[in-house]
Amino acid sequence: MKIAMVGSGYVGLVSGACFADFGHDVVCIDKDRGKIDRLRDGIMPIYEPGLDKLVESNVATGRLTFSTDLADAIAGAHAIFIAVGTPSRRGDGHADLSFVYAVAEEIGAALTNDCVVVTKSTVPVGTGDEVERIIAASGCSHKVAVVSNPEFLREGAAIGDFKRPDRIVIGAEEDFGREVMSEVYRPLFLNESPILFTNRRTSELIKYAANAFLATKITFINEMADLCEKVGADVQDVSRGIGMDNRIGRKFLHAGPGYGGSCFPKDTLALLKTAEDYDSPTRIVEAVVKVNESRKRAMGRKVLDAIGGHDEARGKKVALLGLTFKPNTDDMRDSPSIAVAQTLTDAGVEVAAYDPEGMELAAPLMPDVIMCSDPYQAIESADAVAIVTEWDAFRALDLDRVKSLAEAPIMVDLRNIYRPDDMRDRGFEYHSIGRP
Ligand code: UDX
Repeated sequence: MKIAMVGSGYVGLVSGACFADFGHDVVCIDKDRGKIDRLRDGIMPIYEPGLDKLVESNVATGRLTFSTDLADAIAGAHAIFIAVGTPSRRGDGHADLSFVYAVAEEIGAALTNDCVVVTKSTVPVGTGDEVERIIAASGCSHKVAVVSNPEFLREGAAIGDFKRPDRIVIGAEEDFGREVMSEVYRPLFLNESPILFTNRRTSELIKYAANAFLATKITFINEMADLCEKVGADVQDVSRGIGMDNRIGRKFLHAGPGYGGSCFPKDTLALLKTAEDYDSPTRIVEAVVKVNESRKRAMGRKVLDAIGGHDEARGKKVALLGLTFKPNTDDMRDSPSIAVAQTLTDAGVEVAAYDPEGMELAAPLMPDVIMCSDPYQAIESADAVAIVTEWDAFRALDLDRVKSLAEAPIMVDLRNIYRPDDMRDRGFEYHSIGRP
């Protein structure tokens, strides 16, 4: 099959490389010539474990190519995926669909054959209808089915998620769309990955409902963690205790500094907008968004409390370990570290930070923070060490060295990667999330 992937960002590039690996003939398209040139040279625009090798091997077989010329690249394609960005629109939180619609227009004007146009970008309910209208309005005479096929991959585990998905969701209005999509995903059917065929609007909503539900789960356990701290309970055991119930499930019950990233914050806001437009409020999601937003700053205050409170903070130094919104990515979008750093610098604290992959993108977002070349440099003479992102590199810190370098042996572990009793035995004043 020939597949065209319009948009070579995170979703487009991972999906394109994986489809090529399934044996399809894939062209990844992007307007950004620099990005396409670098991809041709094997330079990835994002950090994602295993992606460079996957791209390299599929480019070598000739199954994966790159192009800036949409009209030329989509000629003869059986399926054209739209995988361009849908950022939050400034001011109102609606998903900005201008890139999606511009691509639909270009596709409509350039089509040379019958094909399926697939929205892979996360798009609000009804976007597929509009894409269909735009393509029809272009005067295109070929048979085109517009299908929704949301992506559920997690950054840092994207290739595994793509190749062994919990499920594939396909929203199609006609048989032609379902048939072509069955062929596209045939290698995964053989893997016995479950597939859900539904209508297009339902498929679009599934993506938002899934992300909002996961954001709710995280926010719920975060509030339980706060309560644990007040009543002397242990949130790790609360997570285990409730998660062993199959109806609840163990995953996404890890308490922390609040969710961040490119999806949950943007998608929860966009879902609220859809709910508002249709006059069908989703009050739980409203609360989740508010609680998560205030939590990020509260985490900064937690660090301040550990160094004697806001009024004693001026002139003290804190080492922040981990800046990205989660490990194994360089993505800083909506990372809780931004609010934590801001709260500290606002209080006059000197902040020194280290992150294995995120410093380049973090530096402009936190201009007052000193970026260090390793964790120990950040820790030197710090009044407290705060772990904000649970990179593996921080699980094996040389704790004796930390203690001797730091001004005071105080650790605030916002990801619960160490054990309170162990840290106490090692002579640390240890603060974590939701544990006695
Ligand atoms: C998410 C969804 O998981 C994915 O299905 C969707 O397609 C895109 O959004 P991603 O943004 O890559 O993926 O990150 P994810 O691993 O889901 O984590 C999101 C945030 O939640 C991170 O900030 C993470 O630290 C936080 N989180 C996650 C918790 O605080 N606790 C948890 O138990 C799980």
